[in-house]
Amino acid sequence: MPENAVLDKERLTGFIDEEFALAEEILELKKERNAVILAHNYQVPQVQLIGDYLGDSFDLSKRAAQTTADTIVFCGVFFMAESAKILSPSKIVLLPELSARCSLADSIEAEDVRKMKAKHPNAVVVTYINSSAEVKAESDVCCTSANALKVVESLDEDEILMIPDINLANWVEKQTSKKIIKWNGACHVHHRLTAKEIMDAKKLAPNAPVIAHPECREEILELSDYILGTSGMLKLAKEIKDEELIIATELGLVQRMQRENPDKKIYPVTVRMICEYMKETTLESVRDALKMEQHKIDVPEEIRVKAYKSLDRMLSVIG
Ligand code: 13P
Ligand code: SF4
Repeated sequence: MPENAVLDKERLTGFIDEEFALAEEILELKKERNAVILAHNYQVPQVQLIGDYLGDSFDLSKRAAQTTADTIVFCGVFFMAESAKILSPSKIVLLPELSARCSLADSIEAEDVRKMKAKHPNAVVVTYINSSAEVKAESDVCCTSANALKVVESLDEDEILMIPDINLANWVEKQTSKKIIKWNGACHVHHRLTAKEIMDAKKLAPNAPVIAHPECREEILELSDYILGTSGMLKLAKEIKDEELIIATELGLVQRMQRENPDKKIYPVTVRMICEYMKETTLESVRDALKMEQHKIDVPEEIRVKAYKSLDRMLSVIG
């Protein structure tokens, strides 16, 4: 049985008739294929709402490892679908939009990692999950924004190659005594956020704390009150007493947070924070993915086995 076998119309707030019809079609196709839909927090609201599981990279990789479904439809970007395939090789993993890439993951290739390792032979390679299967295969352990510091602190070694995100690596470096060697990669959506945009948002909502993603640059993190991955942000928004919050991450997360906290005012720091790759997936493309079994993600077995070790080590360190 698919995890979400009944169309819960209450949940599909704001859907127009055509979208309901698509949601019904998706549900039927999901039953036929015994499929599960995993959706990232940055997806457009309609796709968030039809997901069986909606979460951050870490939540979704755990779901991919545990699911009993035969097919996983990954509504996110390519490295997320690849991670699902690495963790669940016997399942069919579908990425509805093949061009849903990631600027951060695409900033580094396996050959770059091999060169770094040759230069720093004693270092352990800690790789952010936003990376290709080939890059993961060259790594010792993976991490996500939710567990990067914990993963680094769990290691016996004191020299860490932290790739590919320079901002995440800078942030971890500030909180650990270990030597952090970095790669100069960044997410274009988070990296381009400016201090002026934070100051302008603060002027509009002076009492609202700023919650930023660690993919933002150091000067942004210094102006922020909390630094968290997307799931950490959602948890904080529920628990915090403040009635207004400024969120410095992709807009899809802000939309989810507002939906789940209707009594609070959730402000995006700027509406410019949109990941065009994440927005490629639509209800139509999810329907087509299920209908035509497209686009199948495969990882060569030799790469998969090595990449699996890095992902599995992260899952076993953090649980
Ligand atoms: P999370 O792991 O916090 O969900 O972030 C993934 C991502 O792509 C951030 O840009
Ligand atoms: Fe990649 Fe940035 Fe998009 Fe996240 S927001 S998927 S890091 S390009």
